[in-house]
Amino acid sequence: MMALLTVTKLSKQFGGLDAVADVDMHVDAGELVALIGPNGAGKTTLFNLLTGVTPATSGKVTLTTASGKVALLGKRPSDIAKLGLARTFQNIRLFSKLSVRDNLQAAMTHRYHENFFAEILRLPAYYKKEALVGGWTDALLREFDLTAVADLDAGNLPYGTQRRVEIARAAATAPRIIFLDEPAAGMNPEETAGLRALIEKLRTDFQLTVVLIEHDMSLVMNLAERIYVLDHGKMIAEGTPAQIQKDPAVIAAYLGGGVHA
Ligand SMILES: Nc1ncnc2c1ncn2[C@@H]1O[C@H](COP(=O)(O)OP(=O)(O)OP(=O)(O)O)[C@@H](O)[C@H]1O
Ligand SMILES: [Mg+2]
Repeated sequence: MMALLTVTKLSKQFGGLDAVADVDMHVDAGELVALIGPNGAGKTTLFNLLTGVTPATSGKVTLTTASGKVALLGKRPSDIAKLGLARTFQNIRLFSKLSVRDNLQAAMTHRYHENFFAEILRLPAYYKKEALVGGWTDALLREFDLTAVADLDAGNLPYGTQRRVEIARAAATAPRIIFLDEPAAGMNPEETAGLRALIEKLRTDFQLTVVLIEHDMSLVMNLAERIYVLDHGKMIAEGTPAQIQKDPAVIAAYLGGGVHA
């Protein structure tokens, strides 16, 4: 396994608060890693640091690319996106007045990079950009079961569908890694089951590396190969689902509940 993303002693202070404190973490190519922890543990802040949304106080984040290692801290979110890091937000951020199709296309135009289509379709087709944007969008709509709602305003869709559009939009940029911040939040059991299949599809069909923040422990324990646990900004545990479920520090952080699948 090759470490695709390496995080070293990453910290973020808000005033006197250590939101993320000396965090070490790595994500290997093709892995599905979960990041869990109680409310306020620093999970979203960590995603914000990795994707450039929030500047770090100190530390190092390195992405391994075909042309070598790239330091991510200090780069703009748009440049980090171009390097292949895509995300969804805990609070859905779609263009609510745009159709589902236009939401997907907007993501592609914003984050378009020269090798994008060659990478994803393995076609020397840079000059066919417009035509290909249409084709890729149709494929995404199909894969994410959104064809029937393609022309509806995103803001009018049921919550679970909006979450699916957000994930499709992140996948639309052909990222290397996709960060999902509580994708199951507010979903009913049926939608959560659909989400699980969709996350599996991200890995198998789209060959993405996935980092998942989630409070739904059944989803985490069933999907993740490896789990990191944050508590009060510190990484208190790392291991397989079985290891994490019986880790005393993790059980203490959750006050004895919550970590069982
Ligand atoms: N912009 C900010 N300014 C000041 N404090 C912040 C800011 N963003 C987050 N925090 C604080 O940092 C800590 C970590 O917050 P964060 O949102 O990362 O937690 P989380 O693990 O994602 O929690 P949840 O599970 O509730 O989403 C919290 O104490 C939060 O209040
Ligand atoms: Mg959060």
